[in-house]
Amino acid sequence: MKYYNKMIFEMSKPGRIGYNIEEKNLPEVNLPKHLCRQTKADLPEVSELDVVRHYTNVSQKNFGVENGFYPLGSCTMKYNPKINDELATLPGFANIHPLQPVETIQGLLKVYYDLQEMLSEISGLKAYSLNPFAGAHGELAGLMIIKAYHEKNQDFKRNKIIIPDSAHGTNPASATVCGFETIEIKSNPDGTVNLEALKSVLNDETAGLMLTNPNTAGVFEKDITEIAALVHKAGGLLYYDGANLNALVGKAKPGDMGFDITHINLHKTFSTPHGGGGPGSGPVGVCEKLVEFLPNPVVRKNDKGYYFDEAKDSIGALGLFYGNASVYIRAYVYIMTFGKEHLSDIGPMAVLNANYVKDALKDLFELPIGGYCLHEFVFDGLKDQSIGVKTLDLAKRLLDYGFHAPTVYFPLIFTQSMMIEPTEVESKETLDEFIQVMRTIVKESIETPELVKTAPHNTIVRRLDEAKAARQPIVKFKDIK
Ligand SMILES: Cc1ncc(COP(=O)(O)O)c(C=O)c1O
Repeated sequence: MKYYNKMIFEMSKPGRIGYNIEEKNLPEVNLPKHLCRQTKADLPEVSELDVVRHYTNVSQKNFGVENGFYPLGSCTMKYNPKINDELATLPGFANIHPLQPVETIQGLLKVYYDLQEMLSEISGLKAYSLNPFAGAHGELAGLMIIKAYHEKNQDFKRNKIIIPDSAHGTNPASATVCGFETIEIKSNPDGTVNLEALKSVLNDETAGLMLTNPNTAGVFEKDITEIAALVHKAGGLLYYDGANLNALVGKAKPGDMGFDITHINLHKTFSTPHGGGGPGSGPVGVCEKLVEFLPNPVVRKNDKGYYFDEAKDSIGALGLFYGNASVYIRAYVYIMTFGKEHLSDIGPMAVLNANYVKDALKDLFELPIGGYCLHEFVFDGLKDQSIGVKTLDLAKRLLDYGFHAPTVYFPLIFTQSMMIEPTEVESKETLDEFIQVMRTIVKESIETPELVKTAPHNTIVRRLDEAKAARQPIVKFKDIK
């Protein structure tokens, strides 16, 4: 085994230590006996250098936007500027205790308040709670609001949420977790809502419709105002899945389109870190008539300053304390860095980049939706499918060239989906390199298909059983047989 592949337990040598602090220099502590360990902790015995090498090597086995191009469609993997981190880790923010009196955290509360206001203005909705911890968590909050609203109106029959078949899987999952029955409607060939299909399911049991706009195929829902009118006429509410807001930020507002509720994935549009379900953030915003259902807490302001408040008919808190504070600061810094004047520069650059890549590759890949796309687009596998090389093979081969794969096999409306979202942060040179590599892989698929079908060849691990890797991960060294 190569030295740099060794796990920290394999480096362990009895008696080896990182620091030697003489006992007489340690402060005296009198812990109650029942809190003291009875047996020695089973930890690796290693030097400081071993530890540093271990973690540095582990960090290099991962792929992030700071390693290379990460065109994961629907995920908006944009660069997280360092200034966000720098300001979020200022001691005045980083050292706050969650139980500190509000008079002593007015600076942080101003950030919360201003961020709520900025998100309101960006999305055209009346008010926000920052509380939820991810996009899907925001969906759950929004659906709980829909439920609470209908229940307050004694409209108990409304237990159905309509979701197009092009939607992200979290939409039906959140609706089900919230106790709704989900009604799937077939989309048009470009993934947009089929109005006839929608009309056929709207009735007095409709609680609401969940939509993302632009949709997951990167197409703007041009009938959105008609869709909103239909849903409202039937007595339902319109939920905006804000995962694709990056295409529209500063240009168009979900509130103006008729949406009543939205979540915003701060870790997408507003460049805060993604990662393993956290540290994400999915603030939820609502129109005027739903303000008093928002999750707690909300930050409000009076003549004495900022304070945490509770909405009158609140669905309650979705997490402990006050949400993902350091993420809010990062999003706040990002928005302030652009300012009101330049926030609307983001979407057009993202759209330009997506169209540039699509156009440069459309002769080799099946393009199920023609015309201009917005921030992302979908290829439906190789144009010549008789070669037998599938989307999964192409995605794995990309890893060998040092690029992250696009999102694959989603949306489900195509069989070989490959959803590419470059975002606005990438340079033309990076996009050209990606285009060149994609063309090379297509050539390989024709000349040496086995090479592509058995990829990746250069990564730390080869082709994994992805279901098992996600559901039964081995996270302890000692479990490895
Ligand atoms: C369209 C869409 N909706 C919802 C989500 C869920 O967001 P999160 O991953 O923050 O829970 C995603 C995530 O990628 C998405 O792309």
